[in-house]
Amino acid sequence: MGYNVAIDGPAGAGKSTIAKLVAKEKGYIYVDTGAMYRGLAVYFLDCGMKAEELDKIIEACKTAEVSIAYEKGMQQVYLNGKNITDRLRTEEVGNMASKTSAIPEVRAKLLELQRNLAAKEDVIMDGRDIGTNILPNADVKIYLTASVETRAKRRFDELTEKGISCDYDEIAKDIEDRDCRDMNRDIAPLKQAKDAHLVDSSDMTIEEVVAKIVGYCK
Ligand code: DC
Repeated sequence: MGYNVAIDGPAGAGKSTIAKLVAKEKGYIYVDTGAMYRGLAVYFLDCGMKAEELDKIIEACKTAEVSIAYEKGMQQVYLNGKNITDRLRTEEVGNMASKTSAIPEVRAKLLELQRNLAAKEDVIMDGRDIGTNILPNADVKIYLTASVETRAKRRFDELTEKGISCDYDEIAKDIEDRDCRDMNRDIAPLKQAKDAHLVDSSDMTIEEVVAKIVGYCK
């Protein structure tokens, strides 16, 4: 069994930024499970499906093969043998992933992939149900959150910096909708595991959050 750090929290809390830095400092492999849900979402979108078309999505799960590889230390997502990593980060794919991740067959498809990685390697794995469901015996569990306002502001600044025009209120609404879906679904909803350390990054710098989490690790 590898050394396992689970880091869960809502969209935009900074999980991937923080987890990558902790991984670098501690020599762990960073596993982004959201990217796996996004990989399946790309497949459903490419097939022209809507998230509400349950039967079609369940059927499509049988023909979609998501796998993970590490190239130059960066996680790559393959869908049926093709590298689709550069297609994962759009709002359309994120929303489709949030909706379809509530479907038990979709979650079942990715469960083994995630557990197998954690069994073999020292990992810091980020997602929504890692500490509660995927790795209930993780060595360290973190619930990383921040206020909706902070998360929306960070996203707004990130997009503006890239020259992408955007509306703060729309971003905040999107974050609230996503929180609501991720926290209220029947299967493996986002919640803090009983034995997780709560880290609220609203008033913390990236360096402070990393130091705090590294402090919990072996
Ligand atoms: O972390 P992210 O934004 O890339 O995740 C996209 C969606 O995938 C998220 O809204 C909910 C879902 N997800 C999940 O249900 N369980 C996980 N472990 C990771 C992501």
